[in-house]
Amino acid sequence: MDKIEISGKHPGPPGTGLCGKLTIRGAKNAALPIQCAALLGQGTTRLRHLPRLTDVSTMNGLLRELGCSVAADMDARTVEIDPDQVGAGTLEAPYEQVKTMRASVTVMGPLLGRFGRARVSLPGGCAIGARPIDQHLKGLEALGAEVELAHGYVELRAKRLIGARFSFDKVTVGGTQNVMMAASLAKGHSLLENVAREPEVQELAVFLNKMGARISGAGTDAIEIEGVDALNGIDHAILPDRIEAGTFAIAAAITRGDVLLEHAPVDHMHAVIDKLVEAGVECRVEDGGLRVIGPERIRPIDVVTRPHPGFPTDMQAQIMVLAAMADGASVIRETIFENRFMHVPELNRLGADIVVNGNTAVIRGPTRFSGTTVMATDLRASASLVLAGLVADGQTEVRRVYHLDRGYEAIEARLRPLGAEITRYHGAGA
Ligand code: UD1
Repeated sequence: MDKIEISGKHPGPPGTGLCGKLTIRGAKNAALPIQCAALLGQGTTRLRHLPRLTDVSTMNGLLRELGCSVAADMDARTVEIDPDQVGAGTLEAPYEQVKTMRASVTVMGPLLGRFGRARVSLPGGCAIGARPIDQHLKGLEALGAEVELAHGYVELRAKRLIGARFSFDKVTVGGTQNVMMAASLAKGHSLLENVAREPEVQELAVFLNKMGARISGAGTDAIEIEGVDALNGIDHAILPDRIEAGTFAIAAAITRGDVLLEHAPVDHMHAVIDKLVEAGVECRVEDGGLRVIGPERIRPIDVVTRPHPGFPTDMQAQIMVLAAMADGASVIRETIFENRFMHVPELNRLGADIVVNGNTAVIRGPTRFSGTTVMATDLRASASLVLAGLVADGQTEVRRVYHLDRGYEAIEARLRPLGAEITRYHGAGA
């Protein structure tokens, strides 16, 4: 297993931190459902600007297992997916696959919508919480699917789905995406209410409409879908990653740096940018990107994670590092996932003063981080440890780097040109 070593330092005067330009890559959470949606199209779909991430490769692997022909050229960041032979296959997302990557359940809607059948392993818990899929199943049932749970798998069947009105009990990104994809090929009109408004839901709707679907309202809390008989394979470029951009913005801010994040999707980042500005960080929309300049003094902030357009849970661990560097006490409340403070004990080992009570963390700054060996159990938690390592005195060794590789493309190779002393060691550490 790889490990990452960072030779950090407590920030000096403004302008002495990370400095330069960095290009934001395609969004993992936009890419994964769109890879699944390629199952719906007759003929080949060509995806461009894919990020080079293990999750993207894992999804390509699942699509191959389902019978797709998948030609990936990750040097060119493109993949061509032809699903026309899938109907003859098992139509199954097995346990090993879903366990490795929960987003595998997003093949359920397209398989059911186009091929009338799907068998998907139940995801079970993961490091950040229980994460059930009850809303996905209720939505698909509303469209007429027969749902059966047996032996840890969910089996879905339908001759042809029928458009319906369905209101989600809880706002869910993956649930909205699954039901929206299934309804695209249903007979008649669907109205989905209390849906997720995340940019990745909007992007999926744009993609499906390019394939020939008739979806309106994505980005609001109700989506209307006029079912069509068939969809076509298309060419599509994945939008840049708002969470990656937010993570690098915090790296610039805490090191007192000055970094231009090229192609940062600022329109999707308002909640994060607002918090950075509140903390005293200078954020300028410039040259088709976001320029972030770290301040001399970071002010404390209060953050509550919410569905989009609220503050994203996927930025909670990273903004906690910014809060730890602030002059005073900050409060962060996590309302999306019940167990998403796994980074706190590790940040405390690096010298932070964070106390968790239920879903609320109180962070007392300013912290003088001091390097040690750390590891995390999920992707964004791992990113927070890298951020803390950048401003920690001495060496920080981050283990279990495979979490980072799921969501950040070559994080060390991209931070190094900005002045970070960060190195990956292959096959080392636990
Ligand atoms: C997606 C993102 C993930 C992000 C999350 C919340 C992808 C691949 N992943 O995950 O990075 O952290 O949105 O923004 O896009 N829930 C239920 N029943 C369901 C479905 C969800 O109770 O049927 C709950 C979950 O346990 C969680 C909340 O709803 O508490 C939100 O989850 P959801 O939006 O579904 O997250 P994902 O789509 O899995």
